[in-house]
Amino acid sequence: MIQKHTSKAKAGAANILEEKTIWWDDDKSCIMAVEQTLLPTEYKIVEITTVDALADAIKRLAVRGAPALGVAGALGMALSARSAPDEGFEDAVAADAAKLIQTRPTAVNLSLGVKKVCMAMENLPPEMARVMGLYSAKLIAEEDTKTCMTLGHNGARLLPQIGTVLTHCNAGALACSSWGTALGVIRSAWKMGKQISVYSCETRPLLQGSRLTAFELARDKIPVTTITDSTAAYLMQQKKIDAVIVGADRITQDAVFNKIGTYMHAVCARYHNIPFYVAAPVSTFDREAKAADIVVEERGRAEVAEMFGKTTVPKDVPVVNYAFDATPLSLVSAIITEKGVLYPPYDFKDL
Ligand code: MRU
Repeated sequence: MIQKHTSKAKAGAANILEEKTIWWDDDKSCIMAVEQTLLPTEYKIVEITTVDALADAIKRLAVRGAPALGVAGALGMALSARSAPDEGFEDAVAADAAKLIQTRPTAVNLSLGVKKVCMAMENLPPEMARVMGLYSAKLIAEEDTKTCMTLGHNGARLLPQIGTVLTHCNAGALACSSWGTALGVIRSAWKMGKQISVYSCETRPLLQGSRLTAFELARDKIPVTTITDSTAAYLMQQKKIDAVIVGADRITQDAVFNKIGTYMHAVCARYHNIPFYVAAPVSTFDREAKAADIVVEERGRAEVAEMFGKTTVPKDVPVVNYAFDATPLSLVSAIITEKGVLYPPYDFKDL
């Protein structure tokens, strides 16, 4: 179950650049993660000691963001192997894998992380599978950080020397094991000396933009202003935005799946001739799939109909709450990956 980890729990803690969002603790033999639902007021690290607790944390968005979900899936399988009995080991691990994958169907990294660790354990006796599973999960976590740093470096040159960038949701350190994808690009540009300021869309209904992105950037002292999602078009019309940059949960042959609202920004950016960039690791590409094949996660009514402890929608009125939307690749100016920057017409074969 999830418990408070008091010794590391601290509000407004040290520089997030030096910190991990999710990792394995060898002494405790469990996952440690930032409890993201408490931000921005409380920065707390929690111990996740069972697959059920991890599945719950993912569903509640305590652990979230595509690359972080990939790491969570991988570490979750190490957790599963640790607790699975020798007898029936493979069945127990397979059941846990299925449980984790179904928690969030749209972000491809989650199932990829789970599957990679399952493959590393395949056909091994339980004792060896546990060692191999943990080794491969830790490697996935380490590689994620390196990937984000490289991706950030690759994308930084696309941003203006002095300018204002709009982002949606949170594609930062909190959405990865550290550094971030879209925010990784912004961080790299900032580190290079570019004077970037950021408009962070609040990102209804769960406010990842105002709670998490604004938190991360403010802590790094990168100028950030929070806006409501519906303010973005007006700022573009006022020529106050030089580029839009977002992350991705899955990139198919024809579309980028990202937080609901992303498509709206892409349409507005095209209308106003503003470049629209997507920053994502190669692991986010689903080369075989088209947008129509993808299940878009729908979430509960309460996220929209209950705000700040109040009911905000009449009880008989239905609510639609898609977590993601699909932006056609025709609206994307470039896709920034750790292997380089892709431009239209997109061809993912060589990735
Ligand atoms: O529902 P969330 O908060 O997991 O959605 C996250 C996003 O949409 C991010 O933009 C995406 O995962 C990219 S993270 C680098």
